Amino acid sequence: MLANAGIASFAPVEEMTDEMWDDMIAVNLTGVFKTVRAAVPHLKAGGNGGAIVLTSSTAGIMGLPNLTHYVAAKHGVVGIMKTLALELAPHMIRVNSVHPTSVDTMMIHNEQTYGTFRPDKAPSEVTRDDVGEAFQSLNALPVQWVEPVDISNAILFLVSDDGRYVTGVQLPVDAGSVIK
Ligand SMILES: NC(=O)c1ccc[n+]([C@@H]2O[C@H](COP(=O)([O-])OP(=O)(O)OC[C@H]3O[C@@H](n4cnc5c(N)ncnc54)[C@H](O)[C@@H]3O)[C@@H](O)[C@H]2O)c1
Repeated sequence: MLANAGIASFAPVEEMTDEMWDDMIAVNLTGVFKTVRAAVPHLKAGGNGGAIVLTSSTAGIMGLPNLTHYVAAKHGVVGIMKTLALELAPHMIRVNSVHPTSVDTMMIHNEQTYGTFRPDKAPSEVTRDDVGEAFQSLNALPVQWVEPVDISNAILFLVSDDGRYVTGVQLPVDAGSVIK
């Protein structure tokens, strides 16, 4: 079972509204809880063990400016992951989290994100090329972002028999972002 749905928004803490906070916690934290709560009875009933992966973020390992709500939710996901790894271990159900750096999806390629990364330009005029350098500065490896398939490959390892004794682990797929 993969809990992957998520949202993002940006604001300095003093401008973060109750609605932004509540939406973020509802989707990125409570949504993960409700997903695993629904899935676990089925995994247990199967009687064959299983694997759960929760999509966190580098924001589940480190702080990032303008993302108080997102960072709080993604750290919370790690708490869920560690607790369930213990709770479900007797059933041979493994629980891990993946922690991507920026990924080439709509979550980063949209006007709001572009506006945050390039406040010097009108958001509607910012292009991918304009934000590439700023995104690259987050990573140690000289890449602007990773591809969705890079995250999928990490998840495939975690749910495969190759990862049969891996549980309770936070796996960064982050181009060295968290060590920077
Ligand atoms: N893109 C990145 O740079 C990046 C980096 C780190 C972590 N992540 C995480 O990866 C996961 C996937 O993000 P993505 O990059 O594919 O983003 P995306 O915006 O491209 O896709 C997000 C998906 O979540 C779904 N979703 C959002 N709210 C939902 C809800 N309430 N109920 C059901 N589905 C909902 C959307 O329909 C969409 O399919 C998220 O958890 C995100 O936080 C993304």
